[in-house]
Amino acid sequence: MSKHILLLGAPGAGKGTQSKRLAAEFDLEHVTTGDALRANKDMDLSHMDTEFDTPRAYMEAGELVPDEVVNEIVVTALADADGFVLDGYPRNIEQAEFLSEITDLDAAVFLDVSEEELVDRLTGRRVCSECGASYHVEFAPPEEAGVCDECGGELTQRDDDTEETVRERLRVYYENTEPVVEHYRERGELVEVDGEGTPDEVFAELVAVVED
Ligand code: AP5
Repeated sequence: MSKHILLLGAPGAGKGTQSKRLAAEFDLEHVTTGDALRANKDMDLSHMDTEFDTPRAYMEAGELVPDEVVNEIVVTALADADGFVLDGYPRNIEQAEFLSEITDLDAAVFLDVSEEELVDRLTGRRVCSECGASYHVEFAPPEEAGVCDECGGELTQRDDDTEETVRERLRVYYENTEPVVEHYRERGELVEVDGEGTPDEVFAELVAVVED
């Protein structure tokens, strides 16, 4: 039967890197609220009683986009998916409770990475403006600086990967999302994986967890 996998971790823990690989390995949908929001950055939220009028404004500030918007994205994506790897959701307890109402999970996996490593990973990340492939200037450099190995597109820095916004994203993570990790831990549903190995080492551990 198709798996329902949740990948939890701080910004930069490697959720996107590993989710893509797990989805390919186990023939699952990669459901990611971050990518969905980046594809709809300028969606008009002015009819909602919210602080900002677009997802872009929340993301550039490092704040969470309102639950109403992300819950809708997840409902639609999960309805279309048989098995999935969910990445970037839930990010607060309300989202975790909503998720438990709409689906069950086979595994909730937490990628554990220290704060200083997270900052280095995020500020050094570069993303292809054409195909979305992700690199790191030091840890996963392209063959030619600034050029995507996959498609030759230009590599750029995400708007929210500046040091100031990264620090705010981490603050928001510790305040809102760490309690979600604790929520799954208290229920005995959390599997913890050391996220500081090489991408191949982390992937091998994740495959073992999913196969178990
Ligand atoms: P989102 O896009 O989900 O970002 P994030 O959670 O902050 O995580 P990242 O994508 O930045 O990191 P990652 O863990 O995927 O790391 P990656 O694999 O790329 O969210 C962005 C924004 O959208 C939020 O701030 C919020 O505003 C909004 N949002 C999204 N979901 C929401 C929700 N549910 N509710 C409300 N708002 C929401 O790796 C990072 C770097 O490290 C890369 O350069 C990579 O090459 C490198 N790397 C990866 N693995 C390793 C390794 N093992 N060793 C060395 N380097 C590595």
